[in-house]
Amino acid sequence: MKKFFIPLVLIVISVIFLAFSSKANDVNEEDKFIEDLLAKMTLEEKVGQMTQITLEVVTKEGEGRDPSKPLTMDIDKLRNALVDYKIGSIINTGGAANTVEAWQEIITTIQDVATKETNLKIPILYGIDAIHGASYTLGSTLFPQNITMAASRNLDLVKESAAITSYEIRASGIPWNFNPVLGLGRQPYWPRFWETFGEDSYLAAQLAENYVMGIQGDDPSNPVKAAACIKHYLGDSMPNNGRDRTPAWIPERVIRDILLPPYAAGVKAGALTVMVNSGENNGIPAHSDQFLITEILKGELQFKGFVVSDWEDIKRLHTRDRVAATPKEAVKMAVMAGLDMSMVPFDFSFATLLIELVNEGEVPLSRIDDAVKRILYVKHKLGLFDNPYPNKELINGFASDEFRKVNLKAAQEAITLLKNENSILPLSKDKKVLVTGPTSNQMMNLNGGWTITWQGNVESLYPKEKNTFLEAVQAEIGDDNVSFVQGVTINSEINIEEAVKAAENVDAIFACLGEDPYCETPGNITDLTLDEVQLKLVNELSKTGKPIVLVLYEGRPRGINKIVDKVDAILMGYLPGMEGADATVDIIYGEVNPSGKLPFSYPKTPMGFTTYDYKPLEKFDVNDYDPQWPFGFGLSYTSYEYADLSVTESAKIGESIEVSVKVTNTGKVAGKETVELYVTDLYGSVTRPVKQLKGFEKVYLESGESKVINFTLTSDHLSFHNRENKKVVEPGDFNVKIGNLIKSFTLN
Ligand code: BGC
Repeated sequence: MKKFFIPLVLIVISVIFLAFSSKANDVNEEDKFIEDLLAKMTLEEKVGQMTQITLEVVTKEGEGRDPSKPLTMDIDKLRNALVDYKIGSIINTGGAANTVEAWQEIITTIQDVATKETNLKIPILYGIDAIHGASYTLGSTLFPQNITMAASRNLDLVKESAAITSYEIRASGIPWNFNPVLGLGRQPYWPRFWETFGEDSYLAAQLAENYVMGIQGDDPSNPVKAAACIKHYLGDSMPNNGRDRTPAWIPERVIRDILLPPYAAGVKAGALTVMVNSGENNGIPAHSDQFLITEILKGELQFKGFVVSDWEDIKRLHTRDRVAATPKEAVKMAVMAGLDMSMVPFDFSFATLLIELVNEGEVPLSRIDDAVKRILYVKHKLGLFDNPYPNKELINGFASDEFRKVNLKAAQEAITLLKNENSILPLSKDKKVLVTGPTSNQMMNLNGGWTITWQGNVESLYPKEKNTFLEAVQAEIGDDNVSFVQGVTINSEINIEEAVKAAENVDAIFACLGEDPYCETPGNITDLTLDEVQLKLVNELSKTGKPIVLVLYEGRPRGINKIVDKVDAILMGYLPGMEGADATVDIIYGEVNPSGKLPFSYPKTPMGFTTYDYKPLEKFDVNDYDPQWPFGFGLSYTSYEYADLSVTESAKIGESIEVSVKVTNTGKVAGKETVELYVTDLYGSVTRPVKQLKGFEKVYLESGESKVINFTLTSDHLSFHNRENKKVVEPGDFNVKIGNLIKSFTLN
């Protein structure tokens, strides 16, 4: 035995050594490649790499082109940008989605000029907002939006959907995705709420890690992988007044305990780029925040990729925020804060001003070199120096049926059952139904913004073969069993009376309410309550006494308190994507047992928003955490029971705590349950949240089946920032809560 053992050990050691040294060689080669290239670059070529323009700058059509027509490149303008200004990056779509073939042509033309006509032949880095799939490629697989994916609590599905997204943008020749949004959904008015993974920092961090791994894989140069862009760093999601790009006051402890962990997880998973928040925190526009960008992100988190500005935001340090007295000072401020690339995006002023600043000694060349190295590093990691062109073969797998099935599954696992009085659902298929409401017969209400166009609101451009809710119900139970009267639009009455009349002849009513699509600032609102006319529709229908199933397709939790008691069942569809209507109908008719869980606290009243990880003061005296439905809520057609919670009773700081629990499906049908572990730190040197999610696992259980789920709590799960803003774990007692079981442990 021994004779074999020694050579075996040697072989293993040498294999490990070789693996590491070849990795080290790769890294050295990469560094050398970048250093060599940098050494050849002029100042103009360097600042060119740091400059990003939008596609309209190099196409024939200007802004506002007809979204149904393909765009054409203007080769002179392209040469001007790439050869004269030496720019390094182009973004966006020039108005609307293109076919995959048109994209391949556009990218090929761009890379031809970049790699054949410029001095150093550096490929262009093309970027796009593929927020829920390849949003700007016609016919792509468009998934549930992030908030919906978070409701699925399924890490594998998040990773798979991201991997399909990277495949489909790469099929177009695009290797860079401006997603995921890692701001937290803790301000329900914010119009980008649905782009987040919800209110919880731990949940968002887990999803961030899986999304980034799905997009980038282990090796982003793989022809079906791309670079992720975690955004908008930091504080975008918590504007004081709820409107997009307005000021936030966020203390450092909140930044470090709550907002930073998803970014830390994204960076740890290898995210190659970060985009900066367009707003301001504590009076400092994020684009000028040296502390956040250079000290925390590049320093503490050791982020190796590059930091890109958001749209026009460097200019806005001067034009809007007035922290810079001139456009030139704005450029200096942003670059010295740590910005590596400017999304200018309509001109070349950034490059011109930055050259002046370097020549005048206002910006050191070392800062420029650092930025350019980071950009070249990302281009190298993506394999663009080897092949910057679209891989035409990928068309074969584009929008495949296999991808569609993953999409359907994601929606099925996310849609959340919020109410089911007298188990009215699942409904039997022999019932006649009335379908009504403003979100019942349009694809755009299922998809929201970043779909085909920026705002996602051009219904005529949506694929005809996909089902609206009405079409999905018709397909399921036959046209003869379905009547349709829309009743209202999002905010005006059409024919409520007619809907009420139609209700008399059916057994059940499906009322689809919610929001029309929106994106960014155009989605600002000043009242969270759903428009009165939609509430009126349900109110009037409820007078018929017919059972009502309310289906919500909305990007944020609009107030529906006034009608909750008037309906029998409520399904939260969020923005479930192209297969979302089919998934909803699968749940209504019991082909799928719902398993989605709210990724936010659904407020009861317009100002009644408190997150589930509130402080003791928020449920004290007359204060209360009293949502319509709490974070983590979601019903099922079966029931689950928890037993045998076991928790390490005491440990020293630094040691881990082992937790296990048995979960049993006690109902009649199979289902998926998300086991959630919450921790409460009973006393702390600063006030501690009443509970925090620190572990979750989604498990499939046949009727009657039990499984034991194990969790390990480490120092990281138990730490927070103390009065000095130092990360600490403090000794004392903690509670662990799973289901309705609670056990304590002590840290010494
Ligand atoms: C948005 C970003 C987006 C960028 C490029 C901005 O307006 O805030 O999220 O990535 O445009 O389209």
